[in-house]
Amino acid sequence: MARIFLIGATGGVGHRLAPMLIHARHEVSGLYRSPEQAEALRAEGIAPVEGDLMEIDAKALGRAVAGHDVIVFSAGAAGSGLDRTAEIDGQGPVKMIEAARANGIRRLYLVSAMPEAGRGGDVKDGFEFYMRTKKEADAALAASGLDWVILRPGTLLHEDGDGMVSLARAVTYGTVKRGNVAQTLAALIDRPEIRQEVLDLTDGHTPLAEAVDALVRP
Ligand SMILES: NC(=O)c1ccc[n+]([C@@H]2O[C@H](COP(=O)([O-])OP(=O)(O)OC[C@H]3O[C@@H](n4cnc5c(N)ncnc54)[C@H](OP(=O)(O)O)[C@@H]3O)[C@@H](O)[C@H]2O)c1
Repeated sequence: MARIFLIGATGGVGHRLAPMLIHARHEVSGLYRSPEQAEALRAEGIAPVEGDLMEIDAKALGRAVAGHDVIVFSAGAAGSGLDRTAEIDGQGPVKMIEAARANGIRRLYLVSAMPEAGRGGDVKDGFEFYMRTKKEADAALAASGLDWVILRPGTLLHEDGDGMVSLARAVTYGTVKRGNVAQTLAALIDRPEIRQEVLDLTDGHTPLAEAVDALVRP
């Protein structure tokens, strides 16, 4: 059993992930920003913790995550503006690292993005900024010395998972069901020996458990 703090608990990935973690007998706390979300989280067995990534600083986030063993970051600005992308997708993970350090938390999971997304298409400036920002956050986490996993899904689909994936240190670009992203995070969290890894993820043809087993280094 681990005590897991979920940043992005109310999102497409996060709201699928939390019940999986609870089912695996972990204790889950979830960050929320609007009052009506607190009751919904509580009803699902998630301890609600109020905080807005546009405002919270690393110290306050540190107080919020105190007492947890693992932090998962699956929040995102979802194209709502450059300033929000910079603060949520960019500074959010940086604050997470500081908050973790302040509390001796070593295990951090970051949902990033596969850099090949949008290549060859008519990509808007905001998307380029988003991808650059995601990479900067990846780099900050990879340099942290903590026990991180950076998960880089392809383009997300609004679907529950079927447990069939392509998950490895490098896979070619594709789409992925948000439910499969959640299932993958849950599976990785149950394998703490998989750490300091950058992993690509799309829907695929390999059962998730098999794909996760293949990641373990001899
Ligand atoms: N869209 C794609 O194709 C794609 C591809 C690769 C990777 N990703 C990444 O995958 C991750 C998960 O995506 P998703 O679809 O689950 O995202 P989502 O459904 O848009 O959920 C975003 C989450 O972030 C939270 N959030 C947004 N602004 C916040 C703020 N100011 N303070 C605190 N929380 C805030 C949201 O809370 P509220 O419920 O309060 O809004 C929600 O819980 C994101 O990091 C995204 O960048 C996306």
